Amino acid sequence: MIDTKKRIVVLLGPPGAGKGTQAAYIKEKFHIPHISTGEILRDNIDKGTPLGIEAHKFMHKGDLVPDDLIIEMVKDRVRQPDCAEGALFDGFPRNEEQSEMFFDMEYVSTNAKVCAILIDIPDEEVINRLSNRRYCPSCKSIYNLIYKVPKNKDGDSYLCDNCGSELVIRDDDKVETIKNRLKVFHDTAEPLIAYFTKKNVLHIVDGITSLEEVFKQIVNILE
Ligand code: AP5
Repeated sequence: MIDTKKRIVVLLGPPGAGKGTQAAYIKEKFHIPHISTGEILRDNIDKGTPLGIEAHKFMHKGDLVPDDLIIEMVKDRVRQPDCAEGALFDGFPRNEEQSEMFFDMEYVSTNAKVCAILIDIPDEEVINRLSNRRYCPSCKSIYNLIYKVPKNKDGDSYLCDNCGSELVIRDDDKVETIKNRLKVFHDTAEPLIAYFTKKNVLHIVDGITSLEEVFKQIVNILE
């Protein structure tokens, strides 16, 4: 019998674990739309929408944006036709309350198979990775000045390998903000992970190895 359930993949892990990086690989291999709540919020900030103006108050400090704003945003996104056969969530759910809302959403509770993948890395590596991250504001490609170096430069600026745009440093990648984001992760992670464990859908991968090795572990889980 053909399995017609929607495939829902959830990437969990601390800031800098490699969720966005691996999401791009998963999207390409498994043809699942990538829903990054951080990315949707950053787009809203860039466009100056009411959601963006509100979200910026929290994001620039590294705090979480209120749950009600996030859940409305996610519900809106999964109504789009590209999500009919499944979706890859990156950065959502983020705490116990959002986990409850996630599993209660009709999109998830009806005819769906959920697989959550926690990318595990130690705190020391988070600061190292995020302080060297560069990102493309146009096509959203993610680089690292140590681990995934962009090929081209224009003067002092790095350019995106993919679309040639000038790469930028994310507003929340300042060391003090990274430290707060890590604290917020640790304050919320335990009940979040316990929630997914209780649902029997959690897999843990070692995130401290190469980009390719992390992806291999994920493919083994998803295939
Ligand atoms: P969000 O955009 O979700 O950020 P995050 O969870 O903090 O995660 P990052 O995007 O920083 O890291 P990542 O794990 O994707 O790592 P990446 O692949 O880039 O959220 C931002 C903010 O939005 C939050 O702080 C909050 O305010 C708000 N928000 C978002 N969702 C929310 C929600 N649901 N509720 C409330 N608020 C919400 O990799 C990092 C770096 O490491 C890169 O340079 C990369 O090249 C490198 N790298 C990756 N993998 C490897 C590897 N294996 N080896 C070496 N380098 C690697």
